Amino acid sequence: MVRLGLATTLLAAASFAQAAHQKAPAVVPGAYIVEYEDSHDPTSILASIKGDATIRKDIRHELFKGASFQFKDLNKADDLASKVAAMSGVKALYPVRRYSIPEHTVHSTGSAVQEVVAKRDTGNDTFSPHLMTQVNKFRDSGITGKGIKIAVIDTGVDYLHPALGGCFGPGCLVSYGTDLVGDDFNGSNTPVPDSDPMDTCNGHGSHVLGLLSANTNNPYGIIGAAPDVTLGAYRVFGCSGDVGNDILIEAYLKAYDDGSDIITASIGGASGWPEDSWAAVVSRIVEKGVPCLVSAGNDGATGIFYASTAANGKRVTAVASVDNILAPALLSEASYSVANGSLSTFGFTAGSPSAWANVSLPVWSVNFNTADAANGCEAFPDDTPDLSKYIVLIRRGTCTFVQKAQNAAAKGAKYIIYYNNASGSTKVDVSAVADVKAAAMVTSETGAAWIKALQAGTQVTVNMADPETAPKNLNNFPNTATPGFLSTYTSWGPTYEVDVKPQISSPGGMILSTYPRALGSYAVLSGTSMACPLAAATWALVMQKRGTKDPKVLENLFSATAHPNLFNDGTKTYPMLAPVAQQGAGLIQAWDAANANALLSVSSISFNDTEHFKPLQSFEVTNTGKKAVTYQLGHTSAATAYTFANDTSIGPAAFPNELVDAKATLVLTPAKLTLNPGQKKTVTVLAIPPLGLDAKRLPVYSGYITLNGTDSTGYSLPYQGVVGSMRSVTVLDKQNSYLSQSSDATYAPVAAGTTFTLPPAGKANDTLYATTVYPTIVLTLSMGSAEVHADVVNSKGKTIGQVLTFPARWNPRGTFEWNWDGALSDGTYAPADTYKITLKALKIYGNSKWPLDWETQTTEPFTIKYAAKSKRAFTA
Ligand SMILES: *[C@@H]1O[C@H](CO)[C@@H](O)[C@H](O)[C@H]1NC(C)=O
Ligand SMILES: *[C@@H]1O[C@H](CO)[C@@H](O)[C@H](O)[C@H]1NC(C)=O
Ligand SMILES: *[C@@H]1O[C@H](CO)[C@@H](O)[C@H](O)[C@H]1NC(C)=O
Ligand SMILES: *[C@@H]1O[C@H](CO)[C@@H](O)[C@H](O)[C@H]1NC(C)=O
Ligand SMILES: *[C@@H]1O[C@H](CO)[C@@H](O)[C@H](O)[C@H]1NC(C)=O
Ligand SMILES: *[C@@H]1O[C@H](CO)[C@@H](O)[C@H](O)[C@H]1NC(C)=O
Ligand SMILES: *[C@@H]1O[C@H](CO)[C@@H](O)[C@H](O)[C@H]1NC(C)=O
Ligand SMILES: *[C@@H]1O[C@H](CO)[C@@H](O)[C@H](O)[C@H]1NC(C)=O
Ligand SMILES: *[C@@H]1O[C@H](CO)[C@@H](O)[C@H](O)[C@H]1NC(C)=O
Repeated sequence: MVRLGLATTLLAAASFAQAAHQKAPAVVPGAYIVEYEDSHDPTSILASIKGDATIRKDIRHELFKGASFQFKDLNKADDLASKVAAMSGVKALYPVRRYSIPEHTVHSTGSAVQEVVAKRDTGNDTFSPHLMTQVNKFRDSGITGKGIKIAVIDTGVDYLHPALGGCFGPGCLVSYGTDLVGDDFNGSNTPVPDSDPMDTCNGHGSHVLGLLSANTNNPYGIIGAAPDVTLGAYRVFGCSGDVGNDILIEAYLKAYDDGSDIITASIGGASGWPEDSWAAVVSRIVEKGVPCLVSAGNDGATGIFYASTAANGKRVTAVASVDNILAPALLSEASYSVANGSLSTFGFTAGSPSAWANVSLPVWSVNFNTADAANGCEAFPDDTPDLSKYIVLIRRGTCTFVQKAQNAAAKGAKYIIYYNNASGSTKVDVSAVADVKAAAMVTSETGAAWIKALQAGTQVTVNMADPETAPKNLNNFPNTATPGFLSTYTSWGPTYEVDVKPQISSPGGMILSTYPRALGSYAVLSGTSMACPLAAATWALVMQKRGTKDPKVLENLFSATAHPNLFNDGTKTYPMLAPVAQQGAGLIQAWDAANANALLSVSSISFNDTEHFKPLQSFEVTNTGKKAVTYQLGHTSAATAYTFANDTSIGPAAFPNELVDAKATLVLTPAKLTLNPGQKKTVTVLAIPPLGLDAKRLPVYSGYITLNGTDSTGYSLPYQGVVGSMRSVTVLDKQNSYLSQSSDATYAPVAAGTTFTLPPAGKANDTLYATTVYPTIVLTLSMGSAEVHADVVNSKGKTIGQVLTFPARWNPRGTFEWNWDGALSDGTYAPADTYKITLKALKIYGNSKWPLDWETQTTEPFTIKYAAKSKRAFTA
């Protein structure tokens, strides 16, 4: 039998496969982006590529002249690519990389069958993310972003949603944009563009656009932060999969050409290098005067030094996420009665399974203790009645939902309602327990009310409802654990070149907004994806209020007026400010940005590492107000974060990195600054990094320079530096870089001397060879590396070339695997022989010409042979 699946093998062979815990953007095999010299006529370059490749995108733009193309013969792709790179007029060649919508959490959605026409005039803006960022003050004073065009690069938008304008085109809220890919696009097939950016299947973009500009035509009091802007929707995702950076570049250039004043995108992938092609194009658009905001990423769990692209581009505003002060939830409505009295309503979150239609039963509970941490974790007592005639009420906590359901089912239970042990309500899954027909969760308050009635000896009867058709009600629970603190998932900077990332933070955790009508019309989502559009809307409001569109001025204003917050690890708050690497300047205070009378000339300062220490820097302060102001200068430190654990680890510790209260000393000259209206003065900053730190563990210190004005205004400027040497950190994790084999899903090392029989040269994707076991190169980078080589060294000790697709540029940290079919980067095949692979990774700030700046690891020897070309397989 012939097994299919070669395409997958080849994909793995040529791409940076994803390590279990990380999300490194994959490379599309054989696809490249070529960039020409500005003045060069690309005709001859394109003509020479066309024979061997299909042109994906032909981009002739003042900000990017180039093309992306797909070589038809993958086995020759890199040889041909190196020829393209060497052509006259070619400025750079980049691989096409694929990026996905950042993983976001869908907490709850509205009902797909519920009418969504209810109109509620909410009066003043009380939407909690707006109160947190001062957006409500704009609405209260009539500033709504009128006349500003914001482009959103995302999954499209359900513009027929009543709260999103109800139409597409001139005069509509979503007045411009396009679909660059079509529904069936998945990142690896051919995009089928059309002019309609409808969000047919995803929902992400519809949520994002609602945060920008939803109108009050909704039952929940949702209001976009800038409801009168004009929106452009650029759809770059199909219904599944991801998107190549060539399409992202094209989308950005279109959004720029369409006259957008602001471009926002909640898309990204691990990088840490501002030099990659997508980030570079976004940087150029910012230089041209259009602010670009990009979500910082949702990889906070991975710890410090895990910046995401294109957010990590120079001048690109990277937006981190803080959690909402409220935890909104859309709960299904049902009713209950006590002692056959009148009906009261309550909300529930349907679990799995959820056959709740027409279930109306009395409630039974194993005890009446609403503080019982392990309620229902033990087998139920012998005198338990037949529970098939009840809805069993169990408190959440200690053991799993399934364990509790099994104990209840052992006594006949078919219907179970859990009550929460914390604020709000969440989805439970007990589908593993066969006898249970339906499960749900209610709030701790609802649970407590029922328990109280049961304890008093009265009967509680619950009349459940089909969650598919029940009305949904909005419940705003208090967020007791993390209100206003940085979301634990928000990705940490800085870049590997110690650029300050992120720039700013904005509410992104537990945010209510619009959703496609078919998916429930409204939803509560969490992610930096939600933080970014709200930030972009505040940029529009300040643009309108101050009458400036200058990206640098805007970023500087937002940075100077943002509020840094304390560090919170998800359960407790520390008496130290969260590092700049997590929160940037802090939480947006948009009204203060709009009304600031002090304009700083920078949005942050990086002192770099010890080896490249830039201790003396300066910035200017301009008084844009009408009165003279004297500013008292000072500084306050944030927590210093150790990159590495206090052991022999060479890779950054996972969240939360160890934080210490170590303070840099900053000498600010002058210490006091008096500025007349319109006057500008320079402040010099001399930094002395914190003392007593272990430099080998690469501590990242940070804090805020403060300016306290006599007009009772205050401003702050984030700073950051590294104690230790970026160049001396280990980038190649030798212990975890070795040879394995493609048949081993766990990628354990293979014994020295293993022999591999490979398909004949160029036949790797012939189905005859589907069962081939390939040598797998496992590479682990403990820190990012700008360049990685994989030299193929033969039995005589001679390097005959590099494994196909190497050298690899701008690599994030993580573990990557390649299956090798013998192909070399020059398009030839390594002859049958015994080889070792020498992996070489360039140190951070390393000079590629200096051998000592490379770290190397050589695999055990292995032997390759090629199957005879005549091989025919006639297996059953
Ligand atoms: C190998 O796969 C590539 C990409 O899927 C395809 O274009 C090419 O025709 C295949 N070659 C052979 C020999 O099957
Ligand atoms: C609405 O906002 C304005 C301006 O802040 C304030 O004067 C007014 O009292 C507010 N109205 C309500 C009902 O809160
Ligand atoms: C993408 O879709 C094509 C069909 O259009 C399919 O052959 C391919 O396997 C899909 N790729 C992924 C990664 O899902
Ligand atoms: C409630 O009504 C049911 C059915 O009519 C009855 O069996 C039960 O005794 C009543 N309970 C109370 C507390 O009155
Ligand atoms: C629930 O009851 C209604 C009204 O009696 C009936 O129309 C519906 O089919 C029932 N649904 C289920 C799932 O039994
Ligand atoms: C609630 O229960 C969960 C699951 O057992 C547990 O992780 C959590 O700590 C509990 N929360 C509180 C506030 O007790
Ligand atoms: C730090 O120094 C290196 C080496 O000179 C440089 O490449 C990098 O851009 C510097 N980083 C910052 C933030 O200035
Ligand atoms: C500036 O004001 C803040 C907040 O009121 C205060 O914590 C800080 O100490 C002040 N700094 C100086 C230098 O006065
Ligand atoms: C690091 O570990 C060493 C040896 O175990 C110990 O002496 C030192 O106090 C530790 N440092 C910190 C900051 O925990």
